[in-house]
Amino acid sequence: MTISPVLILDFGSQLTQNIARRIREMEIYSEILPATLPASEVRNRNPRALILSGGPSSVYEKGAPTLDPSLLELGIPVLGICYGMQIIAHVAGGRVERAKVREYGVHLFSPSQKASSLWDSFRPASPVLMSHGDWIQDLPKGFHVTGSTETTPIAAMEDPERKIYGVQFHPEVTQTVSGVDFLSHFLKDICRITPNWTIRGYLDRHVEEIRATVKEDHLVCALSGGIDSTVTALLCYRALGERFHAIFVDNGLLRKGELEGLQADLTTLGIPLEVVDAKAIFLTRLKGVSDPEKKRKIIGKTFIDVFSKETRKRGIVRYLAQGTLYPDVIESVSTFGGPSTVIKSHHNVGGLPSRMPFKLVEPLRELFKDEVRRLGRELGLPDRFVNRQPFPGPGLAIRILGSITPERLSILREADAVVRDEVEKSPFSSELWQYFAVLLPVKSVGVMGDARTYEHVVAIRSVRSVDGMTADVHYLTPELLGRISHRIIASVEGVNRVVFDISPKPPATIEWE
Ligand code: XMP
Repeated sequence: MTISPVLILDFGSQLTQNIARRIREMEIYSEILPATLPASEVRNRNPRALILSGGPSSVYEKGAPTLDPSLLELGIPVLGICYGMQIIAHVAGGRVERAKVREYGVHLFSPSQKASSLWDSFRPASPVLMSHGDWIQDLPKGFHVTGSTETTPIAAMEDPERKIYGVQFHPEVTQTVSGVDFLSHFLKDICRITPNWTIRGYLDRHVEEIRATVKEDHLVCALSGGIDSTVTALLCYRALGERFHAIFVDNGLLRKGELEGLQADLTTLGIPLEVVDAKAIFLTRLKGVSDPEKKRKIIGKTFIDVFSKETRKRGIVRYLAQGTLYPDVIESVSTFGGPSTVIKSHHNVGGLPSRMPFKLVEPLRELFKDEVRRLGRELGLPDRFVNRQPFPGPGLAIRILGSITPERLSILREADAVVRDEVEKSPFSSELWQYFAVLLPVKSVGVMGDARTYEHVVAIRSVRSVDGMTADVHYLTPELLGRISHRIIASVEGVNRVVFDISPKPPATIEWE
């Protein structure tokens, strides 16, 4: 069954994903497409409504993204947000100009006297987020003004005949207090969409889809122990049973107890895990390597070598499942956004190369991270697992500054176990994005039991973040820091000093390498 989506045409706003998320939270399915997609492709998807996002351009600039006017004649409701409203005005014959008064930040919006049915949730002077340097000077034919702020006379407009609406503010952010009600009213009452997009429905649909794709063949999945690959595996296992193979490559760079924990969780869920012990080859290839990028490249390549060899052994396998998520898909189709400079070359199980002789199955490619977590719960993953902190593909290798040796790995593993244990006993651990130990490439002098020591230094990192793109330091309490330091120095041989990292991202990154 295909679901007719609400289509969001992306004109390059940083907030476009928020629109999709707000709509999905209403259990209505929405997808983001680049605004440059030909109108025929938009039509082919049979949308229930079109939403035009904001964007950084000015409609009158050369090369600014535009809208195919035929999309306004499809007979389906259209809502333009910020640039989205201006582009409607522009292509429908109105005039957009540089604003006499630009608005950035929260302003007070009032619906017009001749109120539109859209404003049920808005009282006069409702706070809304504005972010625009242009405004609509003249309305296109058929439109009237439906709201204004103190400084922007045309802050909302509509053509009720054709059900085309525009708002200058951003309803998709929390600063616009009635924003979600407004979107909900637009979709449910104006577009007459009945919410029917649930995680349960997604699960059932994708189990069917995987079965229909893989048919009688076998499918393999590389498990990393992270939430994305684990949920992918659970879904595939539910669809294929014995024709599903989960391979875990033990690269020797795991945290203390990690593999055992994963095995226990999967056994509880009835999923057989095939563990490949590749510790020796990873450690041999990493020997003497200190450069962070070299480490990442070696780990990525070695993973592919080991995984390819293992799958070749299982000749019957034709399909490979990957835990690609929706934000990765949008990034690769987005015309205006796209990844900026490579700060670190990330290695994930999800980044397996296309030259492998498999057909790809990506059952999470329509989901945001929080939806993956919900799907995980639906598939029986315990909360403890679903809420775990992220762990990078290259593992402890990028938390050991300098070269990686079995001795240094063992020191970091023990120190990290203390940090996790202590933080997890605290009431705020579920609010943290990550908390871990890092082994520094310096030794320092200390004194233990009257004797001079010259030993390793461990740093503690503890951060809050929404998506890992930026992060704030979470200052652990002096008591907790004291306990962690005391325990590490007392129990981890080779460490005589513990320090706390107080750098936010940016300018630092979360991982040290
Ligand atoms: P940075 O260090 O770039 O990390 O601030 C941001 C988030 O990404 C995680 N991270 C990785 N995850 N493969 C991954 O799967 C990687 O190579 C990798 N490098 C960093 C990091 O743990 C943090 O959550």
